[in-house]
Formats: sequence, C-alpha cells, structure tokens
Amino acid sequence: YPLSIIHCSTHELKMRTYQLIAPAKINLYLEIVGDRPDGYHELVMILQSIDLGDRLEIRSNGTQKINLHCNHPLVPLDNTNIAYKAAQLMSEEFTQAFANYGGVNITIDKQIPVAAGLAGGSTDGAAVLVGLNLLWELGLTIPQLQKLGEKLGSDVPFCVSGGTAIATGRGEKLDAIQDLDNLWVVLAKYNNLSVSTPWAYKTYKQQFAETYINDREEIKSRSSHIHSGSFVQAISHKDGEKIGQLLHNDLEKVVLPEYTQVTQLRDILQQAGGLGTMMSGSGPTVFTLCQSQTEAETIKKIAREKIEDPNLEFWVTQLSSNGVSIISE
Ligand code: C5P
Repeated sequence: YPLSIIHCSTHELKMRTYQLIAPAKINLYLEIVGDRPDGYHELVMILQSIDLGDRLEIRSNGTQKINLHCNHPLVPLDNTNIAYKAAQLMSEEFTQAFANYGGVNITIDKQIPVAAGLAGGSTDGAAVLVGLNLLWELGLTIPQLQKLGEKLGSDVPFCVSGGTAIATGRGEKLDAIQDLDNLWVVLAKYNNLSVSTPWAYKTYKQQFAETYINDREEIKSRSSHIHSGSFVQAISHKDGEKIGQLLHNDLEKVVLPEYTQVTQLRDILQQAGGLGTMMSGSGPTVFTLCQSQTEAETIKKIAREKIEDPNLEFWVTQLSSNGVSIISE
C-alpha cells in the first residue's frame, strides 16, 4: 500500500502544513448479500478510485481546537462531517500528540459532488487521517490508518489506499487487485438531487430481505467467490468491453424507481455509447466507462444535447490507482 508522495522534500515534511488530494470512488460492482447484527449490510463490491478529488489543507493552529472550512455551502462544518470526526478521533486516540502539536485547521476545496455516491465525505475523512499522521509525526502504517478509518465510515479504509479493490464485510475488508487506470469515465449528476444512503439500504431491506443470505459460511463463500469470478478476471486482463458488461449495482433496484430523472439519465448515457453505464453507490451519480477521453467527451456531448437541464453536471476523468496523495505546499 504505497502512499503516493507526488513531491515532498525533507524540508517540507517538517512543515506544519500539508496539502492532500482525496480522490472520489465509483462502484464497479455492488452486491448486497445480507444484513448484519450491527445494522449494516454484508456487501461484495469492487471499488475504483477516479481522478476527481477534493484538495485538503491541514495546518497546525496552535490552539486545542479543530476548525473546519469548506468552499461548498452544503458541506457541514461540525462533527457530522467525516473530516471533522476523523480529526476528533485522532485527537482522542493520540492525546499526547494533540497536546504537543495543538489543534488543526482543515480546509476542504470541494471538487467531488456532495451526497452523490462517490464517497466524497469518506475520502475527506481518509485525507485527515493521513494528514494528521504526518502533521503529528505518528508514524502509523496504512493498515493502521485504515483500522481507524473503519470507525468513521465503511468507505474510509478504501479511500486511504484507493486504486482498484475488492471490498467485503461492511465494505471495510479490502483486497487490492490489478489496477485499472487505463479507462476513462463520464460522470453525470443533477446538482439539485441527492440520495440518502441509509434510506437506500433501508428500502432495499424492506423490498429484498427474503433474498438475504444469513448463513455465515455461505456469506464467506459468496465473498470469496468474487476473487476467482469473471469480473476480477476481466480486470486482470484489462478487458474494458467485458468490464462494461459486468457492471452491477443492487441499489439501482430501489433508487432508480424512486428517482425517474436518474433512470432517464442512465438510459440516455447507455444509449450514447461507451463500455457500460451504472449508478455509483447509493447514487444519484451515474457513470459510463469509456476506452478513451475522446469517447467520453462525445458521450457527454450527446447526453448534454438530449437533456437540457441547467442542473445536470458532467465530469470527464480517468480511473486512478491513487488513494489519498500528499502534495507539497
Ligand atoms: O458506513 P457509512 O456511514 O458510510 O454508511 C452509511 C449508511 O449506509 C449506514 O448508516 C447504513 O444505513 C448504510 N450501510 C449499510 N451497510 C453497509 C454500508 C452502509 O447498511 N455495508
């Protein structure tokens, strides 16, 4: 699990400010296997980082306070924000470091759409863990940071290391697989629409509980099956066509019927071409995988012409092998 240090000299490592990039993720595969005693769901997923990320600055402020700033009006600045929770958790776990180095100012430059199914909040939390590990010179390893991340949210451990990974359990058990950074993706989202993740899972349970697997052994075998399955094989062969065909997300079954605008957007993107189209996470972002940037731009143009809605936003970006990355000031 290498942390990608893009540029950081010894001198800069001693500075009390860090800038980090926190990438978004998409779900190439999301299967709901059953529910769990802790109220969460047993999942089998394939998660993929993309080249769209928030930029965070983490700076010692010399007080004992955690201050959060963000340029996006819908992002909360209190302890309902995963980035804030991450700083709080670190200050509680490492009381001596917190006392020695003082509090922090966290500034988030939001590039990832909010409540979109792209792990925007989780990746900011992951970046705060990575940033404070450096700022407070804690020397924690990536697996140790991921263990802390589990307490903050199911997607946080993945966001720390990023790339392409199988995620099972709540989503926190990770197996890195062959990186898939050669493909492009068009993302589309109505900026006036968001889906509550708890609502999506709750509704899924109401409608599909009879399909749930409860036997621990069967859940285990379902989770391990993905490793040798056709999707992971397609990824290891970098077979874009096959990957496009195998995209899957169980949460579409509850989100699409409720959000007809998203269904229409998905249909139009699918008809516009590319390797395959799917909703990410609990939505409402929809994405199309593409072989090239040109193909992605063409699909964006076609969809833009078909849906004339000023609230519809598009992003064209590449799949990425990076998790949280540190950049110099
Ligand atoms: O872990 P995180 O806070 O991201 O999860 C948000 C919500 O999504 C949870 O409160 C739960 O309702 C649902 N969820 C779930 N099973 C998972 C992950 C999330 O039911 N494995």
